[in-house]
Amino acid sequence: MRIIQDDGEALGRFATDLIAERIADRPDAVIGLATGSSPIPIYVEMARRVAAGTLDLSSVRFFALDEYVGLAADHPMSYRAFLDDHVVGPCNLDPAQLTVLNGKAADPVAECADYEQAISAAGGIDLQLLGIGHNGHIGFNEPTSSFASRTRVVALTHQTVDANARFFDDDAEDVPLLALSQGIGTILEAGRLVLIATGAGKAPAIRSAIEGELTSSVPASALQLHPKVTFLVDEFAGSMLARVDFYRRERQIIPGYGH
Ligand code: F6R
Repeated sequence: MRIIQDDGEALGRFATDLIAERIADRPDAVIGLATGSSPIPIYVEMARRVAAGTLDLSSVRFFALDEYVGLAADHPMSYRAFLDDHVVGPCNLDPAQLTVLNGKAADPVAECADYEQAISAAGGIDLQLLGIGHNGHIGFNEPTSSFASRTRVVALTHQTVDANARFFDDDAEDVPLLALSQGIGTILEAGRLVLIATGAGKAPAIRSAIEGELTSSVPASALQLHPKVTFLVDEFAGSMLARVDFYRRERQIIPGYGH
């Protein structure tokens, strides 16, 4: 399902509606969280609804997609710190509601196996939020990652290191070269996937993911295999889609489209 909206705030509201629907079905739903700039409008809207008393996250369990290797939980650039700042604090969660891979684990391979186990023990992820890299990555599954990959140690491409340098005072030297990431196979097991992308820089990746060939060279193309995916894109990220008129028409004429 492709939802094209004017701006990130509208997309944030749409995604939060989807989260609220899952929680209405199951108050202890399991939600997968992404980091980076793309999901921020979703986290802002979640926090707004929690403060307004219209969204109850008190029984929800959360799992992160990925974490840098070598950064402790209290490192300001760790994904744990990002999610504490953008979700746990603003949404008034108990920190124990969020599980993040430990980037400082003595045995990263065992850490990844334990993480898979923890997701299974929670009953699987009901709804997984995703961003997309300029090279089409999801999580830190870089191009040519297997569609069957599981949570594991991954290397980051130069493109990803450079893109993420903005979070490290623009110093690419400080960006870790390794991460722990849910695999594409892990991500595809979530009950529902919601990918959010904004800005013209994401337009080629969005076009390849939605309309391109199914190929491990574009990890997000694997989402074409999932029965319940909602792509939330703004006008800019959607600007290279060839079938945009069709996507808009689908949304107009199919009842409940995107939900
Ligand atoms: C984040 C993640 C990455 C980002 C992607 C886009 O947990 O796994 O796949 O979603 O790199 O990042 P932004 O949103 O910062 O452009």
